[in-house]
Amino acid sequence: MGIQLLGCLLTCLLYRPAITWLPVLAKHFQAEHKQGVTVLDWHWPFDHPFKFNSCRSSYNIEGCHLTADRELYSQADAVLIHHREIEEDLSNLPQEPRPSFQKWVWRNFESPAHTNRIPGLEDLFNVTLNYRQDADINMPYGSLVPRTKEREEFVPHKNRLVCWIVSNWNPEHKRTWYYMELRKFIRIHTYGDPFNKKVSLSEYRMIVASCKFYLSFENSVHKDYITEKLHNALKLGAVPVVMGPTRGNYEKFIPGDSFIHVDDFRSPRALAKHLLFLDENEEMYRKYFKWQRIHTVRINSFPIQNACNSCEYIRGHPENRMVTELYKWFWEE
Ligand SMILES: *[C@@H]1O[C@H](CO)[C@@H](O)[C@H](O)[C@H]1NC(C)=O
Repeated sequence: MGIQLLGCLLTCLLYRPAITWLPVLAKHFQAEHKQGVTVLDWHWPFDHPFKFNSCRSSYNIEGCHLTADRELYSQADAVLIHHREIEEDLSNLPQEPRPSFQKWVWRNFESPAHTNRIPGLEDLFNVTLNYRQDADINMPYGSLVPRTKEREEFVPHKNRLVCWIVSNWNPEHKRTWYYMELRKFIRIHTYGDPFNKKVSLSEYRMIVASCKFYLSFENSVHKDYITEKLHNALKLGAVPVVMGPTRGNYEKFIPGDSFIHVDDFRSPRALAKHLLFLDENEEMYRKYFKWQRIHTVRINSFPIQNACNSCEYIRGHPENRMVTELYKWFWEE
């Protein structure tokens, strides 16, 4: 900000000799700074600078100054702290005292099973930013958004029945057991590192679209922990077969007739039977796409959208607040 202001003043002096502009400009900057909120992303990689105006241009959120410049720490209204960057070592936290107006935002998008439960987090943060619906700033991995105009559903051409693309293979995961059982009763096309079939992003899209069903199996089961494995399948036109939180939990986010839940079946064998049945019944299969008439899928884009949503929240909640029961809330609820 300081440098930009200086740069502008110099430019103005050099190219606009009308000195009378200066007080006007100064006033303008003062006013903008007063209304605006500065959000400092403590762990943003420095070789990918923020665009100063990203919140306005990308998300229509006004009055946000995003920065990764730690020199601005003492002025920042909020500091975003990414759990993954502090879980080894709390010395990655800001070391200067926190200004009285400043809020620290705990940012985490991993599930509790994959979030290191380190000591020292209680009473440290002011705001939570998480996929959980009851986080202060809630940001799911993706969501359905209403279409501006209704349209017919569209089912891409299919030449595979069931597919699964997986990068993290762990025999302890429930999903691994389920897959091993399910494949006894139905053919599953598998891809990803564990199957020595790495796929590029374009191959990924092509494969998912070509499958009638896609196994959107989460690596661990937690409230609201529904990742882009679900949203990608919906977006690319495969019917997601989900394993994760309960059906009721999924239905808070997407219509009940847009997916198949493993819990709806007594056994992997019963699920396989249903999938084979749907393979023979085009009309019933198409019913899973009804949501497309009025909805479209949005996949959230993380770092910048996080920062802009945080900024919007901080602007709307000027009062002091603290996160007093982070462990209980995140790891135990
Ligand atoms: C932020 O949290 C800290 C620690 O809980 C607290 O002392 C401070 O008053 C809070 N600040 C604001 C602006 O809410």
